[in-house]
Amino acid sequence: MFEYKWLFKTSPITALYMVKISWWGGVQMGPPDPILGVTEAFKRDTNPKKMNLGVGAYRDDKGKPFVLSCVRKAEALIAAKQLDKEYLPIGGLGDFTKACAQLALGANNEVLSSGRNITVQTISGTGSLRIGANFLSRFHGGSRDVYLPKPSWGNHTPIFRDAGMQLKAYRYYDPSTCGFDFRGALEDISKIPEQSVILLHACAHNPTGVDPKQEQWKEISDIVKKRNLLVFFDMAYQGFASGDIDRDAWAVRYFIEQGHNILLSQSFAKNMGLYGERVGGFTVVCKDIEESKRVESQLKILIRPIYSNPPMNGARIATTILNTPELRLLWLEEVHGMANRIIKMREQLVAGLKKSGSSHNWQHVIDQIGMFCFTGLKPEQVERLTKEFSVYMTKDGRISMAGISSGNVGYLAEGIHAVTK
Ligand code: LMR
Repeated sequence: MFEYKWLFKTSPITALYMVKISWWGGVQMGPPDPILGVTEAFKRDTNPKKMNLGVGAYRDDKGKPFVLSCVRKAEALIAAKQLDKEYLPIGGLGDFTKACAQLALGANNEVLSSGRNITVQTISGTGSLRIGANFLSRFHGGSRDVYLPKPSWGNHTPIFRDAGMQLKAYRYYDPSTCGFDFRGALEDISKIPEQSVILLHACAHNPTGVDPKQEQWKEISDIVKKRNLLVFFDMAYQGFASGDIDRDAWAVRYFIEQGHNILLSQSFAKNMGLYGERVGGFTVVCKDIEESKRVESQLKILIRPIYSNPPMNGARIATTILNTPELRLLWLEEVHGMANRIIKMREQLVAGLKKSGSSHNWQHVIDQIGMFCFTGLKPEQVERLTKEFSVYMTKDGRISMAGISSGNVGYLAEGIHAVTK
């Protein structure tokens, strides 16, 4: 005690260090992430029957994370080459960006042959959207408004908002049918001020699993053109909606054919299962090659101070798969397999609900496509499902179909029935 006082009296500088300084007293506790926070809560639960249907991550029918065989084979090929670990260029691996754009646009697309696209490698879909949002914020003179479908992926809003854009919405989902509100969407889009940005989910809409039909896409394209809107496609699920990569890219290719010079985000997290490798692409379709060179120069200036250049491992894996004919074929089979397992789970869930005695109409579970099902469960029902059954999902009632297996689909059906009786 005496020594403590003595210290204060005789050594004010030492004493100052003993008092804990707070620089962050004004920082408020933030809420957990609406999607990734669900996984954190799931991990804390000790119930052996617990299910994580929050994050969109594919699991096999035993509920285990799934590494595609084509990925394992590509990794072996890459390892055998004993490649160096030099920095990639700012825009990423050239062979990757070429293959990435070809995958989305189709190898014979005129945009590619005339060199009027610029594609950069990004930190998966989120990184791609953020580079796009930053690019818009810096260079899109037209408008700061970005129109998102209502609802949209939870991360879209912070991505665009943090880049300095303003968020607006257009009607998309009709809760009364659990389907696409086509008329509402057209009506809202027809009122969007010219030169605004409109975000479209290319396929397997997240979170609703509801996509426009091809005829509806055509009308959307017309109206977007009439309003002179800048289209930003988010394609995070190519292959996951139908199991067919070309079919899932139909809307993107159609819009380009119709003369829309789109922005495009791609992710290889889901369709190659490369979640943690963070592989994606951002493409700007330009008027001509000269414009694309100018845009490229500015994308590099944007990227360099954020992460300098992207990581190489995942891009090498994706490139090896896309550019090695046998591996590409194997990949297409595996994407198909994943999509089919999800479709099967949809049917089994509905069958399970009927078996449990539910008399509600669950047809939308089968009709919706892609990784997610927008169940229509209300927040209180979601809460009960989590509390009483340890089934974890986002509060909006979205479930990741990819997290269901034939071993637990019955348990889930019973739980859903119990909270919706
Ligand atoms: C999801 O919506 O669950 C996925 O896109 C993963 C994520 O990053 O949110």
